[in-house]
Amino acid sequence: MERHIQIFLNKLSFAAITIATLTLLLLCLQTPETCVDQSDPNPKPHTRFPRTTCDFTHRSHTSLDKRNRRIWSTNAWVRAVSSYTSLFKTLQVQSHISNHSRVLIVSAGPGQAVMALNNMGVTDVTGVELMDSPPLVSRADPHNLPFFDGSFDFGFSGYLDRALFPGRYVAEMERTVSSGGVCVVAVEECGAREVDEVVKLFKRSKFLSAKNVTLAGEMMTRIIMRVMNHS
Ligand SMILES: *[C@@H]1O[C@H](CO)[C@@H](O)[C@H](O)[C@H]1NC(C)=O
Ligand SMILES: *[C@@H]1O[C@H](CO)[C@@H](O)[C@H](O)[C@H]1NC(C)=O
Repeated sequence: MERHIQIFLNKLSFAAITIATLTLLLLCLQTPETCVDQSDPNPKPHTRFPRTTCDFTHRSHTSLDKRNRRIWSTNAWVRAVSSYTSLFKTLQVQSHISNHSRVLIVSAGPGQAVMALNNMGVTDVTGVELMDSPPLVSRADPHNLPFFDGSFDFGFSGYLDRALFPGRYVAEMERTVSSGGVCVVAVEECGAREVDEVVKLFKRSKFLSAKNVTLAGEMMTRIIMRVMNHS
């Protein structure tokens, strides 16, 4: 091989190595340490998972605020929040929820139930949904909740009957709610036979009551279960 070509090739490979090294360095520097929102003023050790997702930090806070203000001022939103408020107030009167309860809302949608509880003075509320809606709702799969056993005192879902795997969905609610705590589900309005089917999904809870209610404009049956000792 001619000498000047050899020198040229050497230079080329040196340049390639330099570029690769710099790229690697840049990637290392840019990788965020965690996805957890460090600005969370109320860190909860039992909910140690990204309260907000990585892409949240890249969205502009002002546009998010604006968007949320617009959604939260619509009639549909205000009506839904007030409907959840009356449901939870009833459960508060029955001593199933207090201001100090650690609450989990599964299939929280854009977060109407979370807001209802916050407005009532229940501060420790975690809402999860397949799609996140910061700051009210985080992203999580209801069939595989990213929480430790017994992390909550109260679990609620208004969408059990739309779950892909209802058995698994209920098992995850029961696992994350501590024994002595309560799981409440609202399903499409139904009679005793269907209520019994839902109750059977709960392997570790005792049936407390079922009642027909109107929730967010829909006729639903609200079922209350008491979680028993975790074996
Ligand atoms: C719960 O919190 C709300 C709002 O802070 C307060 O008005 C209410 O009195 C509290 N309830 C109890 C039972 O402490
Ligand atoms: C709810 O209402 C339906 C229709 O009126 C009735 O058949 C059903 O028994 C009620 N369910 C409960 C739990 O009260």
